[in-house]
Amino acid sequence: MTELMIDAVRITKKFGKMTALDGVDLQVPKGTVMGLLGHNGAGKTTLVNILSTLTTATSGTARVAGYDVLTDGHEVRGRIGLTGQFASVDEQITGLDNLVLIARLLGAGKREARERADELLTVFDLTAAGGRKAQTYSGGMRRRLDLAASLVGHPDVIFLDEPTTGLDPSSRNSLWEIVERLVREGTTVLLTTQYLEEADRLADRITVLASGRIVAAGTADQLKGDIGTRTIMLTLAHPGDVTVAMDALKRAGLSPSHDVTRRKISSPAVASTDLILAVRALDRAGVMVTELGISEPSLDDVYLALNHDPKADADNANAVTQIIKAISAA
Ligand SMILES: Nc1ncnc2c1ncn2[C@@H]1O[C@H](COP(=O)(O)OP(=O)(O)OP(=O)(O)O)[C@@H](O)[C@H]1O
Ligand SMILES: [Mg+2]
Repeated sequence: MTELMIDAVRITKKFGKMTALDGVDLQVPKGTVMGLLGHNGAGKTTLVNILSTLTTATSGTARVAGYDVLTDGHEVRGRIGLTGQFASVDEQITGLDNLVLIARLLGAGKREARERADELLTVFDLTAAGGRKAQTYSGGMRRRLDLAASLVGHPDVIFLDEPTTGLDPSSRNSLWEIVERLVREGTTVLLTTQYLEEADRLADRITVLASGRIVAAGTADQLKGDIGTRTIMLTLAHPGDVTVAMDALKRAGLSPSHDVTRRKISSPAVASTDLILAVRALDRAGVMVTELGISEPSLDDVYLALNHDPKADADNANAVTQIIKAISAA
């Protein structure tokens, strides 16, 4: 049996009357990456905080690296690394000193601490900036230093709470590569992210939280297969054909929508024959296309489908109506 490095059972967390987590189960086998997705306020950080012993659950149990977060918090803390949603480096001292300080706190001797710090600065491409105060670092450099700091103690489990938010594509990529390397070496990762692409690339399995409950779980492919729909995409040779093409597709039983500026029409492909229906309908209507294809569902589709809240839509619609009324009355 595979060893579970994170094993949370029926975790509930209440803040007063507000229920931030409601019976959440989470199992993460050793050496794998679990992606935790969810809207703002879904409960991701709260769950990370419970698992990393920063806060306690109202009910439920959790073991991390084999130890109970409640009764063996000290053992847990010695085996985890945490990179929070907001960087927590000491701004007033240098990057190098930040890392040395943590290594010393974890019990390393002077020389050993310096060696570990130098090693991490190299991995995170911060050697040149190592002697500068952290307050002079860019956002991306700070994030990298923050992640480096969480790795000083060679943790078995790392919690990454939105580690790449605000990073440019190249910094994001180098961070992904570092995470992949850690996982190859056996580290277990719990990653929260708003970037579906990030979950798709890094996570072995994904759990989707919505308002404190798990609404979906599985591999990226499973989630896409279960929830996402494929989409027919086509580009018109003549932009003037939009109306004719839309009508033809609707008559064929499809539900097309179009993007005026880019001459593109898309339509969900529910049945496997929908693409053929589209081609026939366009041909009959004499519409020429320059591009025609079918796209696989992305995790974004899955996410939108799961987080679709009809009430929120109604609220938005109401708000817009109110604004329009207010403007026309003025
Ligand atoms: N200390 C607290 N006191 C009261 N309510 C809290 C506290 N911490 C979190 N909450 C509430 O719990 C819910 C979950 O918050 P949490 O920070 O876990 O969400 P999140 O999924 O991390 O969101 P985000 O994507 O914005 O980071 C929110 O409604 C939040 O307002
Ligand atoms: Mg959060």
